[in-house]
Amino acid sequence: MDEKNVNVRGSWGSNIGFLLSAIGSAVGLGNIWGFPYKMGKCGGLTFLLVYLALAIFVGLPIMLAELSLGRNTGCGPVNAYKRISKKFKWVGWLAVIAPFLIMTFYSVLGGYCIWYIIINLIGIFAGGPAGSASFGAMLTSPIGQIGVMILFMLICWLINMGGVAGGIEKFNKVGMPALAIMLVIIIIRAWTLPNAGEGLKFMFVPGYAVKAGFIEKTPSFISILATAGGQMFFSLSLAMGAMITYGSYLGKGENLTKNSIIIVIADTLIAIMAGLAVIPAAVANGINNGVPVNEIGLSGPGLLFKTLQDVFANMGSLGGVFGVIFFVLVLLAAISSAISLIEAVSVTFIDHASAKGKEISRHRTVTLVSVIIALVACLVAADGLGENGFAPWQFFGMAESKIAGWNDCWLDFMDVWSEGIAMPLGAMLCAIMIGWEKIDGKPVFDRLKGEVESGYSGKIYGFWQFCLRYVTPIGMFFILLAQVDGFFGFGWF
Ligand code: PHE
Repeated sequence: MDEKNVNVRGSWGSNIGFLLSAIGSAVGLGNIWGFPYKMGKCGGLTFLLVYLALAIFVGLPIMLAELSLGRNTGCGPVNAYKRISKKFKWVGWLAVIAPFLIMTFYSVLGGYCIWYIIINLIGIFAGGPAGSASFGAMLTSPIGQIGVMILFMLICWLINMGGVAGGIEKFNKVGMPALAIMLVIIIIRAWTLPNAGEGLKFMFVPGYAVKAGFIEKTPSFISILATAGGQMFFSLSLAMGAMITYGSYLGKGENLTKNSIIIVIADTLIAIMAGLAVIPAAVANGINNGVPVNEIGLSGPGLLFKTLQDVFANMGSLGGVFGVIFFVLVLLAAISSAISLIEAVSVTFIDHASAKGKEISRHRTVTLVSVIIALVACLVAADGLGENGFAPWQFFGMAESKIAGWNDCWLDFMDVWSEGIAMPLGAMLCAIMIGWEKIDGKPVFDRLKGEVESGYSGKIYGFWQFCLRYVTPIGMFFILLAQVDGFFGFGWF
């Protein structure tokens, strides 16, 4: 293709294409992995209710703010913030560094999905897939992990190379409906396992998790709030430049408010559906195989690659089939999120050049960004969650006694700066900028009012303004504290 003819910046081909892509960005490992295990850790229903409240009062206003910022300025994060306020320009950089850092481990986790697809594929022909022991075997194979990470990056790179309408949109138009169908299949399989009802009770009957002995005691309300808050903004892809970037490809005719509401509802629905699949399957399998309820493994990150893999292993050959379906769906979720992260980083360079009156090649930019991500990701992949002897504390010559959440392994190290600090700080400052900043004596709100109200007849503007001014910054401030506390293990909450 002649590079000069490629529309470097691009735009969506249709509203449904945009919508599915934005939902694709939001629906990721956070929904299918993070949501169920955090719900498991927090003992069920309270977590769900707190999550819903936060999604409405904190997540939705920021989602709408980011899409408005993107469309209004027509730019990715750095230039969008710069155009609104010189003072807040650096916040845009947070929204570029964060997705870069997230990608250095998201790509590794995406690679894990590919690994597990292979394990389950083999299992179909070998009379049943391997169980949880396969996780340790994978982690201690640096080359294997680097290999699948590169494969994952190659897939994403190819999609991003196709452009906005021709790559990202096309993928999501097929990928998202496919993901939803596969999730329904897995839910049906999970619910038809004997004792699956126990898992549902765990999720929805208040106090059942403790009464039945799944967890010792329900965590404090404040720590549930902290866990749900961190999960919420990560899951909605906020403060990562992704939604600003996707918004910047939107035409003026689209209704941003309606789209934001749909994205938040769809993301939450998929997270709950993932919980409905994963938790009953894990609980049923544990009970049916005589595992003590408190050892089922609902509450940790091992839920997907260990606990659930045991579910498939115990089903024999057919377990391989369900394992493949499940990990393909997780892979789709991971890809659809990763491509939005790569896009948010790439667009920064494309915009930077065009602000200077130059046009750089989209292909070259996407390639460079992908290669740099993959190079840094090699460190995270080879580290194997700290299994292979060069975790950050060892790397920096620190004592083992100094291990805190953030330096257990390279994945945590990357995660602390992005999800732990840059994202909640960025989301808080985004709300403050829009809620309180003035341009030429006029509030930023005035500039974005048209974006929020265009095509939407319901009363949203007042709600949005109130939330962004008061609820969201305060909410995000506590979430920031909670994230820092969680990652550094200060024990404040
Ligand atoms: N929302 C994605 C998930 O739930 C992660 C993500 C965050 C993607 C930010 C893009 C931007 O896994």
